[in-house]
Amino acid sequence: MNNFNFCVPTDIRFGRGQMECLPEELTRYGKKILLVYGGGSIKTTGLYDRVMELLKDFELFELPGIEPNPKLSSVRKGTEICKKENVDMILAVGGGSCIDAAKHIACSACYEGDPWDLVLDRGKVIKALPVAVVLTICATGSEMNSGAVISNEETKEKLEINTPLLYPAISICDPTYLFTLPAKQTAAGTADIISHVFEQYFQPNDGAYITDRLSESVLKTCFHYGLTALKEPENYEARSNLMWASTIGLNHLLTVGKGGAWSVHPIEHELSAYYDITHGVGLAILTPAWMKYVLCDRTVERFAMYAENVWGIAGEDKYAEANEGIARTELFFRSMGLPTRLSEVGIGPEKFEEMAAEAVRTSGVAVKAYCPLQKEDIVRIFEMCM
Ligand code: NZQ
Ligand code: ZN
Repeated sequence: MNNFNFCVPTDIRFGRGQMECLPEELTRYGKKILLVYGGGSIKTTGLYDRVMELLKDFELFELPGIEPNPKLSSVRKGTEICKKENVDMILAVGGGSCIDAAKHIACSACYEGDPWDLVLDRGKVIKALPVAVVLTICATGSEMNSGAVISNEETKEKLEINTPLLYPAISICDPTYLFTLPAKQTAAGTADIISHVFEQYFQPNDGAYITDRLSESVLKTCFHYGLTALKEPENYEARSNLMWASTIGLNHLLTVGKGGAWSVHPIEHELSAYYDITHGVGLAILTPAWMKYVLCDRTVERFAMYAENVWGIAGEDKYAEANEGIARTELFFRSMGLPTRLSEVGIGPEKFEEMAAEAVRTSGVAVKAYCPLQKEDIVRIFEMCM
């Protein structure tokens, strides 16, 4: 097991009715709050009214309209409000897109130059406003991690800032807020959780036994409850297990003692930067192809271990086991109603070379990934998804 530091300062309030603590908890940060939310789901579900009621004694400023795959222009708008109004804290009510926008605004509000500078040079992030979260979709783990992914619509780059300053101070995770999620978002969110675990599980270090077993539990939870949540959107047991799976899936717990660069995420971020597709949909398409592409003598043991421990597949032939595990993974995505081909989301081969080059340029995939991938490898993976 590699050395590691583990310090996650986010205060998680999980379960029904936990939002009632907001007035008391937020008071310690000040009275001026920027409320960041998306395209309107919180208004139709009634959450917006409840937040307004609870925070009636605070001075609220609003930044609505955060896009899925949040854009730099929204971050710039929010930053301006924070600077002009001297905002004390940012409250994101929504999913990864709102949380990530809130985090990026939080550090841009404490920086003199343009927000994009902070993405290009993380060393410039030296201070951030506190961020609070009311989570409405489980997928990214942004509610308990230090990352924020933003798209620059001018340059077609989708990149992450990651610094301990960006851990949310407090996150309200009430599984009943997931009851209204459209099926597509439930499926895409589940695929995202699964992919986060894969990115950490499929790494060369075999000594982090405990971390691998935890990862397998999170994967089993997603495979066990994903379909239930689709069929029964108000099933609390399914929603609560998936919600906690999303948080554990990317709060650094599953990477301790391991490490290495991610593979499928940097490739998907190119798809969603160029074509604005849903992140989890891109991952569901790419993941089985990536698995098939990197399966080789060096990786077969770990893929067979995944098949055995997560899917209960047994046998003498490691390749047969590994291939069956990959087939079950693809079948699961399909049974969740997710596309499994790029052509199903209207993507052709025109930009494959460009996107592959960008994935290599902007990430560690070519050097530090489980199986390092060069531009030609990524083009081949895209082709396998046609
Ligand atoms: O915008 P509204 O109207 O609120 O609708 C949203 C949005 O259209 C809807 N929704 C959310 N909660 C709902 C709901 N609809 C009905 N009822 C509810 N309770 O769902 C749609 C998707 O929301 P979004 O926030 O975009 O989803 P998600 O949480 O999957 O976030 C995706 C973004 O996070 C990034 C992704 O790349 C993408 O930009 N990621 C962030 C990470 C991080 N910070 O650690 C890591 C991830 O790997 C990922 O890259
Ligand atoms: Zn993700």
